[in-house]
Amino acid sequence: MKIAISGKGGVGKTTIMALLAKELRQQGREVLVIDADPSPHMVQTLGFADGDQVKPIAEMTKLLAERAGKTTGSPFYNLNPEVNDLLHDFMIEQDGMKLMVLGAVQTAEGGCACPENHVLRKMLKKMLLTANEVVLLDMEAGVEHLGRGTVAGVDQLIIVVIPSRSSVRTALKIKEMADDVRIPRVFFVGNQIEDEEDRTFLVDALGEPPVAFFPNSSTIRKAERSATPVTAITDTLENAPAELLKAVLEES
Ligand SMILES: Nc1ncnc2c1ncn2[C@@H]1O[C@H](COP(=O)(O)OP(=O)(O)O)[C@@H](O)[C@H]1O
Ligand SMILES: [Mg+2]
Repeated sequence: MKIAISGKGGVGKTTIMALLAKELRQQGREVLVIDADPSPHMVQTLGFADGDQVKPIAEMTKLLAERAGKTTGSPFYNLNPEVNDLLHDFMIEQDGMKLMVLGAVQTAEGGCACPENHVLRKMLKKMLLTANEVVLLDMEAGVEHLGRGTVAGVDQLIIVVIPSRSSVRTALKIKEMADDVRIPRVFFVGNQIEDEEDRTFLVDALGEPPVAFFPNSSTIRKAERSATPVTAITDTLENAPAELLKAVLEES
């Protein structure tokens, strides 16, 4: 299973992805999180102790380009044991959770880090997973990844939306693009929910109910401020992580 997350900047994508990663681990799933944000935060959000040792995938591009020279026309990411070994060099692991960081460098003009995204796209498309393995892709804000087709290889897309008009507008645009690139399952998750009015606003504005509503939580805010990983939070968050897990594991 390959799951990506999208939504307007700052709506809580990384936080929710980390909470989902935790739920999946607790279910005994093999979890690989790929942090594809140009300013990555997943190391801190998941609380990886050796986060500074992670080799960004961006550094792999050179290696892969060399290999690509030897194979004509074929994608440079082939799932032979050699490449699997190579991939493991770019992973760190903690408590059975694996993490990769894209480490794409954003230009001053805000241009895309195309070689890295190319690698990511190939990886997502070619990665063969067993039924127990889950890849979680955390992305930068907006719809750029969809435009570039990076997420075309994923099975599910989670769109995080907070109860604001601008967040809904972005979410609906992402949904449209996700449908265009034929992602099999696309669903919304509400975040920063205060009350019933927030819930109703989202259901009405989106035209369908989000699969989970994450409360506006002082626990999450305090965790971020004190550099505590969100995975260490014991608060049930109104059962939202469990509900998201259920939606993700449901057969389509
Ligand atoms: N449900 C929530 N309640 C309180 N704070 C939240 C919640 N979700 C996210 N945050 C906070 O909002 C900020 C942005 O969250 P983040 O997950 O980094 O967003 P994104 O990845 O979409 O940019 C962080 O400081 C995070 O701790
Ligand atoms: Mg983020």
